[in-house]
Amino acid sequence: MTTVSGPGTGRARRAGVTLPDFPWDRLVPFAQQARAHPGGIVDLSVGTPVDPTPELVQQALAAAADAPGYPQTYGTPPLREAVAAWFARRRGVPDVDPDGVLPTIGSKELVAWLPTLLGLGAGDVVAHPAVAYPTYDVGARLAGATPLPMTSTLGPGPGTGAIGLVWVNSPGNPTGQVLGTEHLRKLVRWARSIGAVLASDECYAELGWDGVRVPSILDPEVCEGSHEGLLAVYSLSKQSNLAGYRASFVAGDPALVRELLEVRKHAGMIVPWPVQEALRVALGDDEHVAVQRERYRARREQARAALEAAGFRIDHSQAGLYLWSTRDEPCMDTVAALAARGVLVAPGDFYGAAGARHVRVALTATDERIAQLAGRLA
Ligand SMILES: Cc1ncc(COP(=O)(O)O)c(C=O)c1O
Repeated sequence: MTTVSGPGTGRARRAGVTLPDFPWDRLVPFAQQARAHPGGIVDLSVGTPVDPTPELVQQALAAAADAPGYPQTYGTPPLREAVAAWFARRRGVPDVDPDGVLPTIGSKELVAWLPTLLGLGAGDVVAHPAVAYPTYDVGARLAGATPLPMTSTLGPGPGTGAIGLVWVNSPGNPTGQVLGTEHLRKLVRWARSIGAVLASDECYAELGWDGVRVPSILDPEVCEGSHEGLLAVYSLSKQSNLAGYRASFVAGDPALVRELLEVRKHAGMIVPWPVQEALRVALGDDEHVAVQRERYRARREQARAALEAAGFRIDHSQAGLYLWSTRDEPCMDTVAALAARGVLVAPGDFYGAAGARHVRVALTATDERIAQLAGRLA
């Protein structure tokens, strides 16, 4: 990833932190071109939900609007119990300890700060998937640690520095790849063998397609009955259309969660009380998730058929909100060709050099815009 050299980043650089360039700037001319299309832009470049926040979640937020006092950083016991119950009901994890649950202000902040919260710094390595959500890299840099893209999905192999934290992301952004039980179990064993914390970012877990099973890192078959050294990171942004609420949590090893809690209490990293309540209520309701899933399933089917008919190959994409698509050409060529038809997608190299011949096509657009996509690619 390239580094920032312009103004406005001086303080971070003086502190020894080099943040990555903001790659979305590169898309600006293509966005302008797509916007000029007579039918308007079909923007499939970002994964921000567009459907309404479910009524019952809005009501839960409103019902907790009277909040004169400070909320608990740890979250209330009913909230932490709702997370444990959700893991048991939806993820096949019967033994999440509510003491090992902590609400977070969206999961992006946890991804960005986890290395720091764990006390990692100079000399430590944070391993993450080679094609990945960029914030794993950012989090390592913010801590002064070294990000390490793992070229093999089973880890960087022997002889790599002191790995303090390993990130796993299944289902993956941008690829939609799902790691199976056996693969995850090997990663758990490997992380434990080198004494690293393993954090698994699972925010697309309820969005598996074509019958794929999406195991959690905390699944007894994956972790061999112990949550030691493991954290599952989860977000309701996508499944419940409340990215604007910043409603997420981390769960797993109670000893690790206590460490995070200690620092977060001092740092004021508290989920607002109305959001804690919205999170608790949303976790208890499967109906709205099923409704949203169905919307994405239909959009995915239509977008996939349109892309394949236009000569694209879709790789992975067994789960989540993206179609990892390629015409086997440099990704910016694909971005340019689609922008000429008023369609904006994200180039794969935003997510690592290994993505240079793919584009990420998001399904987070209205039915009307997805129908437009099909028409424009025809
Ligand atoms: C893999 C992954 N992790 C984390 C996030 C952050 O989600 P949020 O901060 O809304 O919980 C995203 C958002 O797109 C994501 O794709």
